[in-house]
Amino acid sequence: MRIKILQGDITTRSTDAIVNAANSSLLGGGGVDGAIHRAAGRELLEACRELRRNELPGGLDVGKAVATPGFRLPARWVIHTVGPNRHAGETDPGLLASCFRESLAVASQLGVGSVAFPAISAGIYGWDARQVAEVAYDVVTALGDSVPERGGSGNSGPGSPLEIVEFVLFSEQTAAVFQSVFEG
Ligand code: AR6
Repeated sequence: MRIKILQGDITTRSTDAIVNAANSSLLGGGGVDGAIHRAAGRELLEACRELRRNELPGGLDVGKAVATPGFRLPARWVIHTVGPNRHAGETDPGLLASCFRESLAVASQLGVGSVAFPAISAGIYGWDARQVAEVAYDVVTALGDSVPERGGSGNSGPGSPLEIVEFVLFSEQTAAVFQSVFEG
């Protein structure tokens, strides 16, 4: 498995899936959530409303993940996860680790070969980008014994369909933090 650290707008990525740092309502918001809903079009909001009506009447819990189609995005799927909100006292890194783990589990259920993550909880939800990067590193490198090498690649376990995991960071500063955590 290859791990890539990129600076840019996740809505432009043509990975099979992109991960959305959503909130429990799944009905949109600011930050990357707002950008993804704008780029995917109104159908994404409709799909999220349908999820709420059918499978998730109480919303999506912190640390969980669920998929919808990507509609007008280059990515075929959006995997929505809800990061812990530090401003609401959600300071357990285990919840953040769960977001990355559950999103990867959904990616694996979808059978996708590539997935792109934003820095979940590092914006409106107030987490330090370095802590997010460290948690992401721990989860992703525990996947199928993947060991990232300098330069950003590693090996996944046998049979894993997931070949590429990207981290797409909006700011140069956050991209530099992820680079230093992942590449040493
Ligand atoms: N592509 C990649 N990263 C982005 C983009 C983009 N287009 N836009 C922002 N980011 P945030 P959170 C970065 O606030 O902290 C929403 O209202 C951003 O710079 O989007 O998990 C939801 O509905 C930051 O580094 O998500 C929730 O209510 C990272 O994405 C709440 O915000 C995450 O910032 C979730 O807050």
